[in-house]
Amino acid sequence: MHYNNQHIGLVKLVKYITVLLALVVLLIVCAVVVRRFPSPPGPADLRLPPDSRQGHSAGLTAVPDNFEIPAFEDTPEGQLAAYGYRLITETYALVGPDTRDPLTGNRLACCSCHLNGGTKPFSAPYIGLSGVFPIYIGREDKIESLEERINGCFERSMNGKALDVNHEVMRAMITYIRHISKEAPVGVRIKGQGFVDFTPPARAADKERGAAVYEKNCLSCHGAGGEGIKGSTGNREGGYLYPPLWGPDSYNDGAGMARLLTAARFIKANMPLGVTHDSPVLTDEEAYDVAAFVNSQARPVKADKEKDYPDLKKKPKDCPYPPYTDAVSPEQHKYGPFNF
Ligand code: HEC
Ligand code: HEC
Repeated sequence: MHYNNQHIGLVKLVKYITVLLALVVLLIVCAVVVRRFPSPPGPADLRLPPDSRQGHSAGLTAVPDNFEIPAFEDTPEGQLAAYGYRLITETYALVGPDTRDPLTGNRLACCSCHLNGGTKPFSAPYIGLSGVFPIYIGREDKIESLEERINGCFERSMNGKALDVNHEVMRAMITYIRHISKEAPVGVRIKGQGFVDFTPPARAADKERGAAVYEKNCLSCHGAGGEGIKGSTGNREGGYLYPPLWGPDSYNDGAGMARLLTAARFIKANMPLGVTHDSPVLTDEEAYDVAAFVNSQARPVKADKEKDYPDLKKKPKDCPYPPYTDAVSPEQHKYGPFNF
């Protein structure tokens, strides 16, 4: 009896241990399966800062000064990103008006405005944009994809035409933007995207004073007639060493840069070439006046601008073309003051 009782106890113990072990194994298997096949993010997940989606690691909190473009890997994706980099820095040579199948109407490069291959802080850099778009854009009054936003610059800044979203040129540019966005967070804008903050002086911009600022700080590179200086060697051949600021090879009058405040914000943190957001050369007043001088000059005309901003209440004050909903004169919309 005594022996039998002990035996039964031992058998029970072995049974318990076996069941326990089986449970542990089951748990481990479940954990592995869950890790391999994560459930699709629910609506709540989309609001969290996801650190694993799209290969973003959420490391950057600001667009760094002197960002180093990661090496392009020898994979199909890496090669497409490298092509995207060339498209952005040598746009004129690959898809400009002198090529067989032109996509742009001027000989600028995307990086004429998005400096250093779209990596310089406060020159509307591309770093992080693949995690920010789609986003609401007032000019079209809709949630816009990154492809549509790029097409905005093709049609206006580059005075060209919109591309099919699956065009290889478009896919290459998007792949490049993703390539430099890997360390940026998803779903939030970071410091250094866009342009510097700028409080416009409470007066109309003064084109005469702007002309003097231009002569002193800009003319040596951009020319007395705003025509720039053509590039004759290396990857500047077919484009510009110093790009034009007005005339037939410049951005058209529907472009973001044709707006006084946008131009002033760009100029303040980026021009004359070499300045940065934390070491500007021009005062706010000078940037405001020289932007007005530049944008008072003749440039290509974009058709159908009256269809921009379907919701006119969203139209920025400095949009230089009608229609408007307010009684402020077109002249004041173009040159300020903007205290209305
Ligand atoms: C003449 C200057 C200029 C050129 C050239 C230019 N852009 Fe832009 N781009 C701008 C301005 C200005 C903005 C911001 C406009 C605004 O929102 O007020 C902008 C915005 C953008 C944005 C959105 C940035 C953000 O933070 O939301 C993308 C993407 C972009 N451009 C891509 C391109 C590409 C690609 C090219 C070349 C095909 C190009 N741009 C050429 C001036 C330019
Ligand atoms: C040392 C030469 C230099 C000086 C001086 C200079 N720029 Fe630029 N600017 C450039 C270069 C180069 C680019 C294009 C960026 C690139 O290629 O890296 C550029 C781009 C621009 C752009 C956007 C591209 C375009 O063609 O529209 C504007 C606007 C601009 N400059 C305005 C100014 C203004 C205003 C001044 C004077 C306050 C000025 N620049 C002084 C060299 C210069």
